[in-house]
Parts: sequence; structure tokens; C-alpha cells
Amino acid sequence: MTLNTKRTIISVLSIFFLLSLVFVQWMEVARKEVEAGIRKPVIHIPASSQDCVKCHKNTTAGIIAHWEGSTHARKGVGCVECHHAEEADVDGFSHYGQFIATVVTPRDCSHCHPAEAEEFKRSHHAAAGKILHSLDNYLAETVEGARAPFNPHSPTPGSRLNRSTGWPVCSRDVCNATAVR
Ligand code: HEC
Ligand code: HEC
Ligand code: HEC
Repeated sequence: MTLNTKRTIISVLSIFFLLSLVFVQWMEVARKEVEAGIRKPVIHIPASSQDCVKCHKNTTAGIIAHWEGSTHARKGVGCVECHHAEEADVDGFSHYGQFIATVVTPRDCSHCHPAEAEEFKRSHHAAAGKILHSLDNYLAETVEGARAPFNPHSPTPGSRLNRSTGWPVCSRDVCNATAVR
């Protein structure tokens, strides 16, 4: 190999190395600009959600703006991916050529996030309604600094126990199950 060939190879490699540094720098600057809100992130709207985004930009601009700022929009998770409903779903309805549901539940998320959905299902949060009037609730109030002395059998102050639990209303030792509504 002649000296000139070696020089050419080395200079070509150096130029590639320099270009890759410039490219990485440019990517980092773009990422930081997105983080700082200076540059709009590159989003991918799947074909099935093109119409949703176009029309909802006018009807619910806030929801579109929220979605556009999400990781989902950047990864190509469109409206239909979350709002899609099956024919048998009681809450499903036809909406501009797609069968969708308004309320997106953890079950919808579970198609793509099975591990998180499974963790959530087993968590206390998934049964949040049951926390009302429970001792957990009372504990939280006590931790928050409630001044009333702790009585494990008393309902949450200011609200009727049977309204959320469906338990009978008791006065002294007499419980009147029919008073529950
Ligand atoms: C041509 C306009 C248009 C298109 C296309 C459109 N929507 Fe809508 N959408 C509306 C309007 C207007 C409303 C509010 C009135 C209503 O509830 O019907 C609405 C309501 C909704 C609601 C709330 C319904 C409720 O219960 O309040 C959801 C969810 C929704 N759209 C999702 C979508 C999705 C997902 C797509 C794409 C498959 C889509 N929309 C396509 C105009 C549109
Ligand atoms: C990651 C899942 C996800 C994606 C993606 C998504 N949504 Fe939603 N959307 C939800 C959830 C969850 C709610 C709240 C539902 C509720 O009321 O409990 C919601 C609520 C809505 C509502 C309000 C419904 C009401 O209460 O009246 C509209 C309208 C809507 N979405 C439209 C869209 C449109 C249009 C897109 C696409 C740009 C989109 N959504 C993308 C999950 C999603
Ligand atoms: C069609 C598939 C799909 C559905 C449905 C979906 N997601 Fe996602 N989600 C994704 C993808 C893809 C990512 C990006 C993962 C990554 O970058 O590693 C993501 C990321 C996320 C993140 C992390 C966001 C971040 O900035 O790091 C959260 C939180 C999340 N999803 C919650 C939800 C919730 C809640 C629902 C239901 C309301 C839902 N997802 C429904 C595909 C989906």
C-alpha cells in the first residue's frame, strides 16, 4: 500500500468520525430543544387516527395538544389504539367510521402494558372505591393530623357510613337494613 493510499484512507475515516460527532451533537441539541419546549417533537399519526386528529384539533384542541406532547404520539400510538372498542362492548359506538368507546380503562392499556396492568390490578389503587370509609382512610386522616382521638369503629367524620359501604344503619344495638339506600 502506498503512502498516499494510507493518507486517503485515514482522511476518509477522520471525516466520517467528525461527521458522526456533528450528527450526535445535532441529535442531542434537538432532544434538549424538545425537552425545553423550543422545538415541536416529531409525532407519528397512524392512518386510522388521521381523521380523529384533524377534526378534534377544532373540537377538543386541548386533548390534541396533550396527546401531541406525549410519548405515545412520538411512538405512533394514535387515538384509535386506545379508544378502539369491540363490537360486543356495551359502551362502544360508531364514530366517523370507527367503533370506539369514550372511557379508556386499564384493560385497554393492558393490550400494550400487560405487566403494569397486572401490577395495578393487584394494587390497592384498583379498589379505590373500597378505601372510602375504611380504616385506611381513617389512618390517612390521622397521619394528616386529624385531632379527633382514633376510634376504629367510628365512620369518617362528616359522612354517613352506609352511603358508601351499603352496611345497615345502626343506632345503639338495633340495625335497620331497610334504611340503606
Ligand atoms: C369530523 C369530526 C370528527 C372526527 C373525524 C372524529 N370526531 Fe370524535 N367527536 C367529534 C365531535 C364534534 C364530538 C363531540 C360531540 C359528540 O359527542 O358527538 C366528538 C366526540 C368524541 C369523543 C367523546 C364522546 C363522548 O362520549 O363525549 C371521543 C372519545 C372521540 N370523539 C374520539 C374520536 C376518535 C378516536 C376519532 C377517530 C376515530 C374521532 N373522534 C373522530 C368530532 C369528530
Ligand atoms: C393512551 C391512551 C389514549 C390515547 C392515545 C388517546 N386517548 Fe383519549 N382518552 C383516554 C383516556 C384514559 C380518557 C379519559 C376517559 C375518561 O373520561 O375516563 C380519554 C378521553 C378522551 C376524550 C374526552 C371524553 C369525554 O370525557 O368527553 C376525548 C374527546 C378523547 N379522549 C379523544 C382522543 C383523541 C382525538 C385522541 C387522539 C389524538 C386520543 N383521545 C388519544 C386515553 C387515550
Ligand atoms: C397501542 C399500544 C399502547 C396502548 C393501548 C397504551 N400504550 Fe402506553 N405506551 C405505548 C408505547 C409504545 C410507549 C412507549 C414505550 C417506550 O418508549 O419504551 C408507551 C409509554 C407509556 C408511558 C410512559 C411514558 C413516558 O413518557 O415514558 C406511560 C405512563 C403509558 N404508556 C401509559 C399508558 C396508559 C395509562 C394507557 C391506557 C390509558 C396506555 N399507556 C395505553 C403503547 C401503548
